[in-house]
Amino acid sequence: MLSRVAQTLRSGARVASPVAGALRNSFTVVQEATPRLNRCELYVPGTQAKIIPKAAKSAADVVVMDLEDSVAIGEKEVARKNVIQALKEVDFGNKTVAVRINGLYSHHMYRDVVDIIEQAGERCDVFIVPMVGVDKDVYMADALVSQVEEAVGRKKKIGFGLIIEATMGMMNVNSIAAASKRNESLHFGVADYSASTKSRTTNIGGPNKLYGVLTDKDGDKPRDFVWGDPWHYAMSRIVVAARANGLRPVDGPFGDIGDPDGYRAQCNRGAALGMEGKWAIHPSQVAIANEVFSPGEAEVTQARRVLEAMEKAQREGLGAVSLDGKLVDIASIKQADAIVKKAEAIAAMN
Ligand code: GLV
Ligand code: MG
Repeated sequence: MLSRVAQTLRSGARVASPVAGALRNSFTVVQEATPRLNRCELYVPGTQAKIIPKAAKSAADVVVMDLEDSVAIGEKEVARKNVIQALKEVDFGNKTVAVRINGLYSHHMYRDVVDIIEQAGERCDVFIVPMVGVDKDVYMADALVSQVEEAVGRKKKIGFGLIIEATMGMMNVNSIAAASKRNESLHFGVADYSASTKSRTTNIGGPNKLYGVLTDKDGDKPRDFVWGDPWHYAMSRIVVAARANGLRPVDGPFGDIGDPDGYRAQCNRGAALGMEGKWAIHPSQVAIANEVFSPGEAEVTQARRVLEAMEKAQREGLGAVSLDGKLVDIASIKQADAIVKKAEAIAAMN
């Protein structure tokens, strides 16, 4: 039996119905955002008209055509025209199609919104809004998008993916996450974030050799320097704000495209924290993100075993049992269910 999310994804519908019901972690019920696969978001500069159809054929769940930071100021109009043409002409199949519009700090933002909604039909699913600093930024974007959608009689509402990439946005991440019904995902923009915190790096994502600890002195034994993850706090904060509001947390870029092992490590630690997926800034990163953010066969088999053990326990009136010598209880059902549902949704899309 397919879960409701799998059925929804298979039918191609993008309704705002809850995934497997709403989350009941309190008396307050969290409604989940429009369900979409979000393992990998492939970014393509809006100036690269020839590459957009290739991205549309890639294995990424989401294609993001960029009008913001990969586009020079003098190229903004050309990029916008390319993106509008692609939205009208390119076959994106069942992918989620997104456009990263310019931020509210720039007059290019309103023109991106107006022209795309007025001229590009209904194929754009999501606007990625960069540099969100306060909840009113989302309110403003929502108001503008709503007005243009209404004026043209658009049937499908555009969703929002919000990039948290400055200290102000991080400070206000909770209210930003709750600011609009259009919100679907929060993204960690590590490059701008590190600039905003004045971190000592010029890399985009990845570790930092300055960030680590020396193990304690132990006689004359050599001491180890153990690297830490400088982005742990920021990522965790985004995961919590997103999940508490039914949104998908998505990790941002990893700039070293010649280091697939480093990228895989970044994906793994994001998945371990609860991230739904990661950006790819090069096609070579797509397969890695897809693999890491899809539950593996062994993981799914184990999750099904947990569900079976708990079904049996509950038939016997027990709330907790031992499986392979480890405790499983009612919380384990929720953990296992999330893994099985994600695997079903992925299977339904492939
Ligand atoms: C993305 O926009 C970033 O700044 O990392
Ligand atoms: Mg940025």
